[in-house]
Amino acid sequence: MTRDLSITINGEEREFAVAEFRSLLDALRNEIGLTGTKKGCDVGDCGACTVILNGKPVNACLVLAVEADGGAVETIEGLQAAPDKPSPLQESFMVHGGAQCGFCTPGVIMMAKALLDDNPEPSEHDIRFALAGNICRCTGYTKIFDAVRAAADEMRKAPAP
Ligand code: FES
Ligand code: FES
Repeated sequence: MTRDLSITINGEEREFAVAEFRSLLDALRNEIGLTGTKKGCDVGDCGACTVILNGKPVNACLVLAVEADGGAVETIEGLQAAPDKPSPLQESFMVHGGAQCGFCTPGVIMMAKALLDDNPEPSEHDIRFALAGNICRCTGYTKIFDAVRAAADEMRKAPAP
């Protein structure tokens, strides 16, 4: 059985048909073509698939696409103001070496965005707690935490318009 869905994705309303059992992750990657959101474990353990659904971070592999019908989804592709203009978080990950292979990075950045949207001045504990479900096999985490902390500092100095 397929269902016709309407989901606002990165500010743009998208209408598409999807099998009822399709995860939001697979719908984003396959039906919509937004492959920035990564599929790691596909069972809710790694955080690689993190997107923001109606203002809250979710593991897109654990959400059915039909559950997002009528809602708003933000993915890594929606962060840049322009193709050549990374968001402050993305910039900070580049500057601080917060990514190596990059596979976990979209999920980490979306989780960090959800944190900073909710709490612009996170403590070290807040950052580590928020990112506890995002597994990275490369960086050792220190540079990720550095990047999030520095982005928070920058964003408080120059909040988004
Ligand atoms: Fe969703 Fe790992 S792919 S948590
Ligand atoms: Fe490789 Fe995180 S940068 S898994």
